[in-house]
Amino acid sequence: MSLIARHFAKAATRYDEIAQVQPRVAAALAARLGGAPRRILEIGCGTGGLSAHLARLFPQAELVLTDISAEMLAVCEARLGGRGRFLRMDGQAPDAGLGCFELIVSSLAMQWFEDLPASLERLAAMLARGGEMRFATLGAGTFAEWRAVLGEAGGLHDYPEARAFPWRAQIEAEMF
Ligand SMILES: C[S@@+](CC[C@H](N)C(=O)[O-])C[C@H]1O[C@@H](n2cnc3c(N)ncnc32)[C@H](O)[C@@H]1O
Repeated sequence: MSLIARHFAKAATRYDEIAQVQPRVAAALAARLGGAPRRILEIGCGTGGLSAHLARLFPQAELVLTDISAEMLAVCEARLGGRGRFLRMDGQAPDAGLGCFELIVSSLAMQWFEDLPASLERLAAMLARGGEMRFATLGAGTFAEWRAVLGEAGGLHDYPEARAFPWRAQIEAEMF
């Protein structure tokens, strides 16, 4: 199990008590979703912060909810009352056998990817014709104040610049 998966496995049962920004980001992303996708793939569903919005917004859609951590998935499955298909999957190496999706979404998971552009290309290849991928992630400048305070000793992960995205992405920045 990767370090990231181990970290989230340990946090799974208490995650919703301590997560404050994540629900707000998920709600902001959900507010940008529309249309009538038949099949939806979520990457890094965690405990279901965004998944619950998907279930509410798209009652007819087939939801495929995935995460690298089995423990986070278990909490999500309980929260959604079994609505959807729950799969342990690394979003960097998505299973092309799952078929095509009209909507691929992810909230605050992709900042953990080691090779974001290549992973996004693999996910984009799973979009149905006319489908769309929408995700919220952390970018260069996130935690800037904290980083400045910590200085060289900070040890914070470097989040990607907008140019790290492989195609002409429509990027919106929002402060929480
Ligand atoms: C900060 S939580 C966000 C969860 C949820 N999307 C939300 O908004 O509440 C990040 C999630 O991404 C998952 N994750 C991290 N790296 C991943 C990867 N490579 N593939 C799939 N999931 C991953 C973690 O296990 C964790 O559940």
